[in-house]
Amino acid sequence: MHKIFSAFWLTISISAFAQETTTPKIHGADVYGAKPNRPFLYKIPATGAKPVEYTVLGLPQGLTVDKNTGVISGVTPAKNNYTTRLIAKNNFGADTLTFDIKVGDEISLTPAMGWNSWNVFGLRVTDKDIRNAADVMVSTGLIDHGWGYINIDDGWESEERKPDGEIATNSKFPDLTALSDYIHSKGLKFGIYSSPGSRTCGGFLGSLNHEEQDIKTYEKWGVDYLKYDLCSYTVRTFLVKKNLQKPYIFMNQFIQNSNRDIVYSLCQYGLGKVWKWGKAVGGNSWRTTGDIVDTWASVNRLLNKQKRLSTFASPGHWNDPDMLVLGIVGWNNDSRKCRLTEAEQQLHFGMWSMLASPLLLGCDLTKIDSFTMSLITNDDIIALNQDRLGKQAAFIYEKDGIQVWSKPLSDGTTAIAIINLSAKEKTTTVKLDKISSGTFTTSKNLWSKQIAYLKDNSITATIPTHGILQFKLAK
Ligand code: GAL
Repeated sequence: MHKIFSAFWLTISISAFAQETTTPKIHGADVYGAKPNRPFLYKIPATGAKPVEYTVLGLPQGLTVDKNTGVISGVTPAKNNYTTRLIAKNNFGADTLTFDIKVGDEISLTPAMGWNSWNVFGLRVTDKDIRNAADVMVSTGLIDHGWGYINIDDGWESEERKPDGEIATNSKFPDLTALSDYIHSKGLKFGIYSSPGSRTCGGFLGSLNHEEQDIKTYEKWGVDYLKYDLCSYTVRTFLVKKNLQKPYIFMNQFIQNSNRDIVYSLCQYGLGKVWKWGKAVGGNSWRTTGDIVDTWASVNRLLNKQKRLSTFASPGHWNDPDMLVLGIVGWNNDSRKCRLTEAEQQLHFGMWSMLASPLLLGCDLTKIDSFTMSLITNDDIIALNQDRLGKQAAFIYEKDGIQVWSKPLSDGTTAIAIINLSAKEKTTTVKLDKISSGTFTTSKNLWSKQIAYLKDNSITATIPTHGILQFKLAK
């Protein structure tokens, strides 16, 4: 797609693509965090011609793997680091991965990956939309690349609680237990949304004065992820720092004491520099910005707000520059194709992966097009996001509309992204001594898959307007 030109580059094209699509390949992180004695669910993401048969060596007692689906389930054992070996096999071959199950106090050791209803269905969302998303996550094979959460955003709640104070759903969601069972039966996880105020941003019931009761209800429903907003809480308090932390600290105690691993996603738009205290209040992620929309101005603005935040991310605790706006989006209006160009969509996905952001698709999965699929099934890009070192890409420099970001990876290599924010195609040379000391000798282009030997510790590349190039560099 992009031209790389440099007289010094020796390119070796990868011709193994056909083979990759048939022999099994295990994707996703090689580490997973869970708390002891709670329901455990992990789907081994693996591509390859079906049927694929799954085995796990060294699985601790209490957990079993379904050999046909690759879903590991059961009750999480005692605190320990369990090193297992995942095996995926089919008629064409096999792949294996050493996989650590870290049972301890931390979950979400790599950023959550999944889907959320908001950017496409807004408050219109229905039970059927959620079931469709779960179905398509499996039927398109997205689940085999590590996409796992199915999250309902605002719009599921009623406007009045039940007589005993329990939160009620509106008529679009007749039975959340049944919906959650449906999602879990597919090896996917189930997320929900609420607000610490009396009302959500959409005007439905929030959790105010019912926080503990709501977490109990979520336990009953089998919730795995809570996006906790701020709407209406700010109306009754003043926006002082102490008050900003208060609702999140308060809710966190019930989440921590619950009998499920619930990913806690703070959604208060970056107020009070949340990245400085999001981890301390128990957040697994925290929004660092206002809402994203599907324009270049929005993606560019949100991205640039992440420049100085890399040191605040760590395994289990992520900066969140908001969800993805790829494919068919719509919010509260009719769904439509996202307004970003293809280069902009590639940059959006590539950079959100570099930033170790939660990756939540916000599109109509039932209408997903081949271009969007090609972006979100690029396993090399996903691997940057899911790397166990958990470093967020650091901003290196900007010159003439070109930005360079770099992300150290657990295998000792470094990923770099070169992006072009200007309105013209640009050719640039990046001197790699700006990234780290020592000399880089090889690179893999994570989009074209070309491997090259580097000379002079530099990369010269041509990047389209609003486009991205990403490389994995080795010394
Ligand atoms: C906003 C939030 C959005 C969405 C919306 C629901 O505050 O940033 O992502 O959740 O509320 O009403």
